[in-house]
Amino acid sequence: MIDIKGRIHNPKLYSKIVSAEEAAALIKPGMNIGTSGFTPAGYPKAVPLALAERIKKEHFQINLWTGASVGPELDGALANVDGIARRMPYQTSGDLRKSINAGKINYIDQHLSHMAQMVRYGFFKGKVDIAIVEALGITEEGNIIPTTSMGNSASFVKDADMVIVEVNTAQSLELEGMHDCYIPLDPPYRKAIPIEKPNDRIGTAYIPCGLDKITCIVPCDKPDTARPLGAIDDDARAMSAHLIEFLNEEIKQGRMPKNLLPLQSGVGSVANAVISGLVNSPFEHLSVYTEVIQDGMLDLFDANKLDFASGTSLTLSPDGQKRFFDNIGKYRDKIILRPTEISNNPEIARRLGVIAMNTAIEFDIYGHVNSTHIMGSKLMNGIGGSGDYARNGYLTIFFSSSVAKNGAISSIVPMCSHIDHTEHDVDLFVTERGVADVRGLSPKERARVIINNCAHPDYKPMLLDYLERAEKATKFAQSPHILSEALSWHSRFLETGTMKK
Ligand code: COA
Repeated sequence: MIDIKGRIHNPKLYSKIVSAEEAAALIKPGMNIGTSGFTPAGYPKAVPLALAERIKKEHFQINLWTGASVGPELDGALANVDGIARRMPYQTSGDLRKSINAGKINYIDQHLSHMAQMVRYGFFKGKVDIAIVEALGITEEGNIIPTTSMGNSASFVKDADMVIVEVNTAQSLELEGMHDCYIPLDPPYRKAIPIEKPNDRIGTAYIPCGLDKITCIVPCDKPDTARPLGAIDDDARAMSAHLIEFLNEEIKQGRMPKNLLPLQSGVGSVANAVISGLVNSPFEHLSVYTEVIQDGMLDLFDANKLDFASGTSLTLSPDGQKRFFDNIGKYRDKIILRPTEISNNPEIARRLGVIAMNTAIEFDIYGHVNSTHIMGSKLMNGIGGSGDYARNGYLTIFFSSSVAKNGAISSIVPMCSHIDHTEHDVDLFVTERGVADVRGLSPKERARVIINNCAHPDYKPMLLDYLERAEKATKFAQSPHILSEALSWHSRFLETGTMKK
């Protein structure tokens, strides 16, 4: 067995060290299992793999609650043995997605900032039966030192009947001290969360647990399975350049300080590329208040553009992981990892005035955004934290290439096939074609700005034609639609393979 005693600072806990198989044997069919992990970082690996092996033989299911997406050793392994009955709040696993879209798993797409408090409030009509948390180590008092993410671990541990700690020797001990754990009191006792700057520390460097609450401890030596990022393409470079031009103008108009406001940037290749593009901007002394710390932020640190980043996880590509851990001394004092409930907290996002930047699958002419579903029915990943910030940012921006699938799909459509963020939430749309600043515009005004500034030339005439006919058909109603046609672009794609006529 891997030696983890050096990482357990109270010898009284040594007797609780067991194998992954012994720990997995504690899990009963139908249990709610709450795990650490947020965008494949800091999730347990040994116990889930042992559980998957057990499920293969015994055929049962559990409900899986996490911080967000987790790695293949957890989501993939359990989905592949049909071991998950219900899953929340966010995922990016290809295997899990297949099972969800085949109707085999009840997936509940939860705003990430809501998840921990909903568990504590008891809204899911059952508590966490077992929390499984990856740790760097355990303090003398039995508190858990987290690894590459915070997610919902602290609230899962608080709520759980049993706690399994997976001590992972593949995680660098130099991560210790980067965390700031704070669990708000629940209403009617909640206080203002005292964060006024991204680098404010308000909690503890460990997850409170205690010796007695730890049921068992499992050794592990598997690193996080990182996901590679897509290459930065011309579209992403163009979107980044449009953003920089727009922000420069905001500074000129006195609507933004010279070093901007704290940046929030979403998951995925486009968001990462846009952040990375700020390396070539005139902005300095930037700060970040976000959920995922991606490779692009390392670019900004290395270019001396970024002073501080607060997030809930180190969501790095394989190259980014190497770069981070080879130079951890350079980055560790400039990053704080917080519980998702705090990193994504609406109160704090609004107070700090974050620039909320997320990616859309599609948006419509009136400014509604679909972040989660392909052609209205199939789940892609989930809403993640995009709604937490979009609703509460100082400035809310959505990015998307103007077309997908080599031009067969227009990302700007008459009506979104699914809506995650509404016309009331978004200030700015950016595609490689340009920027639509829709602040203060009525729906019909918004439609013209979105079509003219953001749509691909192949689809612009079709969108303008739809808008004009819809206006006539409804006698210029507030948000004109021809209902029989509004979703016809999606139907046409499903029937013919293209949205083009
Ligand atoms: N219709 C159909 N498919 C589309 C599409 C559209 N309008 N737009 C994009 N896609 C497909 C792409 O072709 C690609 O498919 P592939 O995986 O088969 O290649 C996939 O969706 C991802 O698109 P990509 O352009 O690579 O974008 P991305 O990696 O930046 O991810 C989201 C975009 C929207 C999927 C991702 O940002 C997400 O999950 N967002 C929701 C959660 C969120 O915003 N969290 C942030 C909070 S901090």
